[in-house]
Amino acid sequence: MSKGGFQNVRGTRDFYPDELRQREWLFDHFRAVASRFAFEQVDAPMLEPAELFIRKAGEEIVDQLYHFELHDRHLALRPEFTPSLARMVQARAGGLRLPLRWFSIPQCWRYERMTRGRKREHYQWNMDIWGEPSVTAEAELISACFQLFDAVGLDRQHVTLKVNSRALVEEALRAGPLRDRPEAFAPLCVIIDKIAKIGPDAVTDQLTDAGGLVRLTPGAAADVIAMLGATHLDDAAQHAPKGSEPLAEIRRLFDLLDAYGVADSVCFDAATVRGLAYYTGIVFEAFDTEGTLRSICGGGRYDRLLETLGGPPLPAAGFGMGDVVLSELLADKGLLPNLPLAIDAVVFALEEAERPAAVRLAERLRREGQRVDLVLGLPRLKRVMADADKSGAARVWLIGPDEAARGVATVRDLASGEQREEKLTS
Ligand code: HAM
Repeated sequence: MSKGGFQNVRGTRDFYPDELRQREWLFDHFRAVASRFAFEQVDAPMLEPAELFIRKAGEEIVDQLYHFELHDRHLALRPEFTPSLARMVQARAGGLRLPLRWFSIPQCWRYERMTRGRKREHYQWNMDIWGEPSVTAEAELISACFQLFDAVGLDRQHVTLKVNSRALVEEALRAGPLRDRPEAFAPLCVIIDKIAKIGPDAVTDQLTDAGGLVRLTPGAAADVIAMLGATHLDDAAQHAPKGSEPLAEIRRLFDLLDAYGVADSVCFDAATVRGLAYYTGIVFEAFDTEGTLRSICGGGRYDRLLETLGGPPLPAAGFGMGDVVLSELLADKGLLPNLPLAIDAVVFALEEAERPAAVRLAERLRREGQRVDLVLGLPRLKRVMADADKSGAARVWLIGPDEAARGVATVRDLASGEQREEKLTS
């Protein structure tokens, strides 16, 4: 034990009541938006077999795994929810009515280098659709992101959502540098995802690393970097073959987003490829417009994840939105509410002799569904009134010897200051 007593593990958070109220406020919005889209909530253990998360594509998330061996089992704290979700779908595959719309709010663990908005545990609102192969699923998911932003008061000008299609990138590369090496595509995406963080030179080094998984020639690496610069779909279309299906798909997505009324806040960005290996089609990430924080949310289509885990082929798409980034952004914009403890009534026996009457009253009010703070000691009345005021209570019920003798309580309404007597029923 350190001199000052125990502390929470670096990168993790304690939630004191004020902070927990804010967290629940956010989670309530997650749940409300999910239910508006007819999603059902699921959950899974935080602890999973480590192999569920270990992929060999060079992803950061695998290096950041909290894992350990216990009784010959290799276990890990989940760094994300998607593999657990796939495991759950696989266990019931065949018996599920498709398409599935499931959401969850798991706590996830990653041993990250900490920066602003990046912790070693975070909660992540996940929304996933399984069994729908068309881009209607991605449109629905992106629209849910915007409904959440609207619900918490984030102006459209505060958030930008960037979209790309891995299938579009793959199509261009399979016609060129990756013609005979489809297995290099996922590791290539993992590397180019880092471009904003480490810059084009370091990305080129990794793409051309002779001992790496991608091993491009310098010329091919330069072509890839040039391709990532496209911020208009028409520019990206120049790399696509005639009749490109992924191109048609992303155009359809923009048409749908227009119908949802969110297309103006969505832009095409060829450099958005996501750092997780399992994505196969449309990918997207939302950022604060000022670009000071890491992504608010990220997701996309992952049609082959179930197969890689030994299950049947089943298309899927989804996203994860982190509570840390969102809360930082809301705090920056002054949008994080200060929520008081919500209490309806404070019940106070002025002396010990009146306690049974106070207990009976508190019991009655609680059974009616009121939130009641029954004062447990015998503080001074002044202190009780000040505390009641601070906690935002609506009324204070006082029972002193005089009230008890007459079978009544004095009820003071804190907003109006009005006072009346009410009969105590036993
Ligand atoms: P991800 O991009 O790794 O995707 O994480 C999603 C979001 O979780 C991020 O945009 C960020 O807000 C938050 N997040 C991630 N790591 C941290 C961290 N260390 N500290 C704070 N916040 C963090 C996934 O995890 C995918 N499984 C999402 C998904 C669901 N794709 C399909 N379905």
